[in-house]
Amino acid sequence: MEVFSFSAGTLKLLDQRKLPFKEEYLLCKNYKQTIGAIREMAVRGAPAISIAGAYALSQAEKAGYIIDSAAEEILNSRPTAIDLKNAIDFMKEGINNGEDSQKRAAEWEQSIYNKCKLICMHGAELIGEGNRVLTHCNTGPIAVGKYGTALGAILYAHKKGKGVFAWVDETRPRFQGALTSYELSEAGVPHNVITDSTAGSLMRKGEVDLIMVGADRICKNGDFANKIGTYPLAVLAKHHRIPFYVLAPSSTIDSKLESGEKIPIERRDEREILEPAGVRAFAEGTRAANFAFDVTPASLVTAYVTEHGLSCSPPE
Ligand code: MRU
Repeated sequence: MEVFSFSAGTLKLLDQRKLPFKEEYLLCKNYKQTIGAIREMAVRGAPAISIAGAYALSQAEKAGYIIDSAAEEILNSRPTAIDLKNAIDFMKEGINNGEDSQKRAAEWEQSIYNKCKLICMHGAELIGEGNRVLTHCNTGPIAVGKYGTALGAILYAHKKGKGVFAWVDETRPRFQGALTSYELSEAGVPHNVITDSTAGSLMRKGEVDLIMVGADRICKNGDFANKIGTYPLAVLAKHHRIPFYVLAPSSTIDSKLESGEKIPIERRDEREILEPAGVRAFAEGTRAANFAFDVTPASLVTAYVTEHGLSCSPPE
């Protein structure tokens, strides 16, 4: 299943909103449409968003738009994941040096795949025979374009015959767990989906051997943002002495931000909570606060896995 392809100025991307029921593709013919796909979460997952963003800037450049303002518009599509900013900086540098923007975007895309392939291999080494791994959100090939990060490591461990089992948080309100479950099913990995509030009791019963999550932004001190619900998992893991690993490519590192307090947390439409999967579940007039991400302090992280391998201190 191909997540991205780019030809004749059009970005074709797998529409994640239609999964797991339909494999449909969305054609983004110009940078505004690509921004729309990012904002509306047709494409999601920090590395995947960065790839879409890189192609969006190439589309803008080829169409003669002012680079700086197009870049700003792209960056405003989703604020939390730093991968998008890192991709845009990479693109701008190339364009300023007279490089072809489409080639530059393809280079960014390939660099993400190269990194994530290594992360899967390093991460799988942390998974022992028959381990039960709990994961949150979606960090598989769909969230990256290829390979994945945390889920990629679980998939790789399965491929290596480690007999891994996965606990999959459903990940409200957008149910990214459905994508994770879909990717695990396709690969034949035994797993159960659980409600987000189930994780604690499983840990207490000794049914979780380790936790692997992705990240949307890792600060200099190791604090990181990830899908809402990650922080409580890390607190529970510490309490139950369960290893808690963060797997992400170096494109997820914010080399300027000292610590997590200043990470911009995206607040999305309250209807995502009030109308789960499009069906109204709360009385008319109910208000909801929909924070898409939370911040986990570095003190709760056992280790980080990047393309460079495992590190107990914040990755650089
Ligand atoms: O809001 P989303 O669906 O774009 O969420 C991003 C994610 O997929 C995660 O936060 C993930 O854990 C890190 S990106 C592989």
